[in-house]
Amino acid sequence: MAENLLEVTDLTVRFGGLTAVNKFDIAVQRGTIHALIGPNGAGKSTTFNCISRFYEPTAGRILLNGVDVTRSPASAMAGLGVARTFQNLELFGELTVFENVMIGAHVHAGRSWADALSARPSGVVDHIEHLLQRTGLTAYRNTVARNLDFGHQKLLELARALAIRPRLLLLDEPAAGLRNREIAALDALLTDLCRREGITILLVEHVMQLVMAISDRVTVLNFGTKIAEGTPDEVRNDPSVIEAYLGQEMVHA
Ligand SMILES: Nc1ncnc2c1ncn2[C@@H]1O[C@H](COP(=O)(O)OP(=O)(O)OP(=O)(O)O)[C@@H](O)[C@H]1O
Ligand SMILES: [Mg+2]
Repeated sequence: MAENLLEVTDLTVRFGGLTAVNKFDIAVQRGTIHALIGPNGAGKSTTFNCISRFYEPTAGRILLNGVDVTRSPASAMAGLGVARTFQNLELFGELTVFENVMIGAHVHAGRSWADALSARPSGVVDHIEHLLQRTGLTAYRNTVARNLDFGHQKLLELARALAIRPRLLLLDEPAAGLRNREIAALDALLTDLCRREGITILLVEHVMQLVMAISDRVTVLNFGTKIAEGTPDEVRNDPSVIEAYLGQEMVHA
């Protein structure tokens, strides 16, 4: 068993003339919460899209538990225990909250989503009810996804990602659109998922209060390049990070 559940080395992504990610390395240790932060356009979501195999890297290697998945198809990732949420939401807007999570659970079992909605084994239903409860969505169980506010849609994406029982969870801005009380609940939930259930979390987030409270390690990207890495305290006090990112975040806050 590799010590690092995820290892990305020398990742480069070019879009035409733009280098979105440049020779980027990150090693995510098993059973930790690792944050990836940086200004808008730094390349965080692009990195996520490569790890979850939605984008083809221009160069570099992605190892999952020591196995090279750089060229694996996106459809294989759930089976390998990798779940993700999207910055801009990828929900089935016309389906209910329950149905959206149901689809997540069945993608794992290799069924089509139409089959997923018709077959409802009780173990799966119980698991989904449990996930809705943990993400604070029980009251919205029969609400059509497009009628939820943005924050609750983000929580629904999280519940759906958890439905596959991932070992690696990639979260792209899970706190966007949440109120303070909801951020506190998210803090507790992510901590619990990692510490009690051993799920490894790679977190992209602009809400620094959350990042600094729950992360074991923080990596900072700026213009596609890693500029710092360390504990929350090390990164928070790093002058290059304050200059490139945290200074401006404090002003926004
Ligand atoms: N599919 C694409 N085609 C062309 N350019 C892209 C594509 N995806 C991302 N980019 C560009 O790559 C750069 C990195 O974008 P990315 O979305 O990874 O940033 P980010 O760090 O997630 O920013 P934010 O915090 O705003 O979400 C940006 O300049 C963006 O415009
Ligand atoms: Mg992004």
